[in-house]
Amino acid sequence: MTYDVNKIRSHFPSLNTGLAFFCGPGGSQVPDVVGAAIAGAITKPISNRNTNTESEKNAEEIVVGFRQAVGDLIDVDPRGVVYGRSWTQLTYDFSRTLAKSWGPGDEIVVSRLDHDSNIRPWIQAAEAVGATVRWAEFDSATSELTVAAVEAVLSPKTKLVAVTGAGNTIGTRPDLKAIGVAVHKVGALFYVDGVHLTPHAAISVKEIGADFFGFSFYKLMGPHCAALAASPALLETLNNDKLLPATSAVPERFEFGTLPYELMAGCIAAIDFIAEMAPGNSTTRRERIVNSMNALEKYEDGLLEYLESSVKALPGVVMYGHAKHRTPTIYFSCAGHSSADIYTAMASKGVTLPASNFYALEVSRTLGLGDAGALRAGLAPYSIKDDVDRLVGGLKEILA
Ligand SMILES: Cc1ncc(COP(=O)(O)O)c(C=O)c1O
Repeated sequence: MTYDVNKIRSHFPSLNTGLAFFCGPGGSQVPDVVGAAIAGAITKPISNRNTNTESEKNAEEIVVGFRQAVGDLIDVDPRGVVYGRSWTQLTYDFSRTLAKSWGPGDEIVVSRLDHDSNIRPWIQAAEAVGATVRWAEFDSATSELTVAAVEAVLSPKTKLVAVTGAGNTIGTRPDLKAIGVAVHKVGALFYVDGVHLTPHAAISVKEIGADFFGFSFYKLMGPHCAALAASPALLETLNNDKLLPATSAVPERFEFGTLPYELMAGCIAAIDFIAEMAPGNSTTRRERIVNSMNALEKYEDGLLEYLESSVKALPGVVMYGHAKHRTPTIYFSCAGHSSADIYTAMASKGVTLPASNFYALEVSRTLGLGDAGALRAGLAPYSIKDDVDRLVGGLKEILA
């Protein structure tokens, strides 16, 4: 089945504002079905999870459905899916838990390509126990984070390697599978931030070989929350802090307090929406998701080519993402103009084109952009050629 962008767009009430949204990497727009699922769950009979009353069963069904939907989305065992308020929160929690088994002499690897949420929690956790942090560097000329760059900082002392599935500004998609092989060769754990990758590609955590993989729903048409997946057996080995009466069961013992059932219902709806974007003739939800995401990737790659070549042709534009394998996200500045000023000028034209380091602070500094960063235009499932024309037309007027 082909990718019918107009049909998809008809589900997004926010598109009726007439705004052209390029802020998807910071948070996507949300389809009507997700809003309806959240409203439905919060107003139907709901009690704490159990199996006695209808209200308890409703909560139980949502939690089980949430884990199954994430399992289908990223190809993991639903019994190892942990709900989180955000990916940052999950990484802070897991870094503190994992650091309990580290000490002086142990090494942790972080990458310069990553969002700060997959860097600072590891540095702070390592510092707290006297472990050493080593940096895997990306090449600012090619934008690539190579397997060799990661291997260069691996050793038998390495306990964990934290790498992003895709750079959230320059879009680089490192070869996760090959990096995972190298990480496991030295006996370390592989922790992957899938926040910027998951909205743009079919993901199989099994194929990638990550020990931990997570993403945020609000980047892929869902509510503001996140999920982390690991094998239940690995989760069993982790000794996290928890309340005494709270269950020790996995994955529940990593989810603090009462779960937000309504948001979890919204997450299920977002994944079902993805499964129906371009499902093909498949019967299982997993297969429909893979078909949809493959169709989306093809669609976004085509539109990216148009976006990139049109923006590149404008006077004084400097592009920062050059990796061979990239998400449909461009990061650029315009000589003689402040990115922050362009951001506000474009906003007045109804185009969301934010400027920032977008918390990829190390990337911004490495590229010589300081902490201010540059402009980021990201495509999303509802993006169309007309949006790109409006972005390029607006920039042309500003740069004239
Ligand atoms: C690659 C990447 N990782 C992590 C995050 C942070 O996610 P959250 O807001 O769920 O903590 C973002 C958000 O911009 C991101 O793009």
